[in-house]
Amino acid sequence: MNMDRNASSRENPFLPEPARIVRLYPLTDDVRFFQVRMVDMDKALAFRYRAGQFAMISVLGAGEAPFSISSTPSRPGLLEFCIRQTGTVTDALFKLKENDLVGLRGPYGNGFPVEKMRGKDILIVMGGLGAAPLRSVLLYCLDNRDQFGRVILLHGAKRPAEMIFREEFFDLKKRADLECHLAVDEDDTGQWPENIGVVTTLFPLIQDIDPENTYSLVCGPPVMYRFVLKELVKLNIPKDQILMTLERRMKCGVGKCGHCAIDYIYTCLDGPVFTYWDVIHMRELI
Ligand SMILES: Cc1cc2nc3c(=O)[nH]c(=O)nc-3n(C[C@H](O)[C@H](O)[C@H](O)COP(=O)(O)OP(=O)(O)OC[C@H]3O[C@@H](n4cnc5c(N)ncnc54)[C@H](O)[C@@H]3O)c2cc1C
Ligand code: FES
Repeated sequence: MNMDRNASSRENPFLPEPARIVRLYPLTDDVRFFQVRMVDMDKALAFRYRAGQFAMISVLGAGEAPFSISSTPSRPGLLEFCIRQTGTVTDALFKLKENDLVGLRGPYGNGFPVEKMRGKDILIVMGGLGAAPLRSVLLYCLDNRDQFGRVILLHGAKRPAEMIFREEFFDLKKRADLECHLAVDEDDTGQWPENIGVVTTLFPLIQDIDPENTYSLVCGPPVMYRFVLKELVKLNIPKDQILMTLERRMKCGVGKCGHCAIDYIYTCLDGPVFTYWDVIHMRELI
């Protein structure tokens, strides 16, 4: 039988590509930064995605799980992820070292509607591991700075040591074209130079929001949404311009298994980015 292996791999949406871990370091006690590159350089460069999409990462013998792409599409070739150790696949990922191989397939999901966001002000609100998908869109906006209006970042973490990308965000504070405000719920170091309090305590620091001209992007632990959404509504940002990236349990990532379904919505295809309107109409989303 004449088997065209390339044709069969194109037809099989579950076939992972081997990718090498290029850089690996801890972001917090239980979150690690993984920078990976597909072994096949042509495929690495052809892997185009939009901010807010995710990929499935697999470890032989352990399984696979979805992870938000944390790097920006404006810098192709290398893909970055922030991964928290929580179970089988992430335990296996945490045993790997630089130069080891993982499986990678994707990109999946809808991502942020960057075309609609062009020319608008961008207000990013992140908490905890919510920085993983939102770092992608933040870096994208900064790499294409002339295409956006104001760019504002509000980032909250429980304690200084738990703020992922802490050094990177402190560096970004030096940029005049980014309004960057950081907060921790509790300062156990006595040396935290920024705000102390939950992420919503940062809202009074931002002035003169032009709501009709603003897209707000939110990601964080479930408890954060209720309070952040209240603030965004107070600012009169239209509900279809408030975008949230949400996590559901997923298996296939390509709309085949039904694991992520809520009514007629497949969150792996129609999400993980939803508007506040979607969420109001489908409360189960959060
Ligand atoms: C779109 C998307 C993006 C994501 N992005 C990231 C990211 O950037 N970084 C990141 O760290 N994580 C991310 N996640 C979450 C990640 O995919 C999960 O934490 C994944 O389950 C980890 O796999 P695991 O095998 O290590 O953990 P698992 O073994 O699946 O366990 C994870 C947790 O879920 C519990 N659990 C296991 N099975 C079930 C079940 N059937 N029902 C309820 N609870 C169960 C376990 O007790 C444990 O607490 C994302 C998820 C989605 C859907
Ligand atoms: S994860 Fe299988 S349908 Fe969405």
